[in-house]
Amino acid sequence: MLAIAILAAGKGTRMKSDFPKVLHPLSGKSLIKRVITNCNNLNPDRYLIIIGHQSELIKQHLKDQKELEFILQQPQKGTGHAVQQLLEALKGFKGELIVLNGDVPLLRTETIDQLLNKHRSRHADVTFLTTKSPTPKGYGRVFTDKKDKVKGIIEDCDCNEKQKLNQLVNAGIYCFDWPKLAEILPKLQSKNIQKEIYITDTVAMLPNALHLKVDNPDEVRGVNDQIQLAECESIIQTRLRNYWMNKGVTFVDPPSCTLTEECHFGTEVIVEPQTHFRGQCQIGNNCLIGPGVLISNSIIGSNVKIVHSVMTDVKVGNNVDIGPFAHLRPQTDIADQCKIGNFVEIKKSRIDQGTKINHLSYIGDAKLGSKVNIGAGTITANFDGKNKHQTLIGNSTKTGANSVLVAPISIGSEVTIGAGSTITKDVPSGALGLSRAKQITKEGWSQIKKYSS
Ligand code: UD1
Ligand code: MG
Repeated sequence: MLAIAILAAGKGTRMKSDFPKVLHPLSGKSLIKRVITNCNNLNPDRYLIIIGHQSELIKQHLKDQKELEFILQQPQKGTGHAVQQLLEALKGFKGELIVLNGDVPLLRTETIDQLLNKHRSRHADVTFLTTKSPTPKGYGRVFTDKKDKVKGIIEDCDCNEKQKLNQLVNAGIYCFDWPKLAEILPKLQSKNIQKEIYITDTVAMLPNALHLKVDNPDEVRGVNDQIQLAECESIIQTRLRNYWMNKGVTFVDPPSCTLTEECHFGTEVIVEPQTHFRGQCQIGNNCLIGPGVLISNSIIGSNVKIVHSVMTDVKVGNNVDIGPFAHLRPQTDIADQCKIGNFVEIKKSRIDQGTKINHLSYIGDAKLGSKVNIGAGTITANFDGKNKHQTLIGNSTKTGANSVLVAPISIGSEVTIGAGSTITKDVPSGALGLSRAKQITKEGWSQIKKYSS
């Protein structure tokens, strides 16, 4: 039998943020969700999350994960006190308990497997992860005897100067024999500088305490403040960019670009500086993205060029040029061979093959056919102050510069809309739609002549 407990009740005071620490995101995914994902292949019989500070927010954040049991720690008197809350919930449970700090997000699943294997094969009472850190400040120091047997853990703030020189640190990930831990948990005291009940004190109380040293200290970094959060973000981003560079993606200036684990790139993709991918993004082959592009939750085809643009929840076909300075908003679907030019905003619209919207336009709640040419400054006036309405435009239609199409409206195929028109009535296929006032020209009417003599 296996149980997992994630400690997520702490205040996270050092973050200096009202938001619970474990909900802070790294590459778009919260610390707690990362810890849960890292345990994905363990298949525990019980899965417990210890919550306290801002507990409702954390519950809400994890509401889709039905297998989780939430245990309340109120007030929060330290990590040992947090684990003491399990005494009731795990009464009679026989097996191992894996305890993970909710603020250690970069751990690999393989390392947790190794921890469990060592614990089982050596019949330990507790086995926990350590690492040798060149910058051990803030971490509990782990003391071992000559045979590498653990004597105890002393928290950074409780160490004397000599003890602080010890670079072997506690990662905050433990595998316990639950019945043995349950026996000593009630005996934990808070005789330390912080007057807290420490889970780390159990290690000196259990006779067969082992540690497993992780080679790369980055894997077991804890997040206690904004600087450590940013350092972890940087590690994740480097991992992700290196992964895609090893698959052939070109990053012209890697440190200036960010992405998520849910991004996928085809072959021969070039990512120019200051380009960011958020959420789930899929990029086809032979694309040139950037500089200065922000793409969220979008699917982009092959042979697409995008420069200095923002796009969210968008689908783009093949051979499309976008930007500079286009804003493509949710539910926009652009077919192959389209051109979306500068200062164009599109929302909730379908744009068929070969259509061009080259300059200064707003297209919202619209369906445009193929080979449409939208003239500079064309606006679909979709909002009447209360409701949104649709604009339909047929194939090969051209709108003149500065046209306003007042929705709901249907413009047929092969229509021409005269420049400067405000169109309020449907225009049938093949027609010219024109609504501008007739021009008046008064020859010889020059103000300069009139007033200068
Ligand atoms: C802890 C360890 C330290 C280790 C480090 C690794 C203790 C006493 N110290 O220190 O040895 O090197 O992690 O990152 O355990 N929490 C609760 N309830 C509480 C207090 C904390 O659930 O009452 C949770 C926090 O939300 C957090 C985790 O426990 O997810 C660790 O707490 P934190 O205060 O960050 O401990 P550290 O000082 O980092
Ligand atoms: Mg911590």
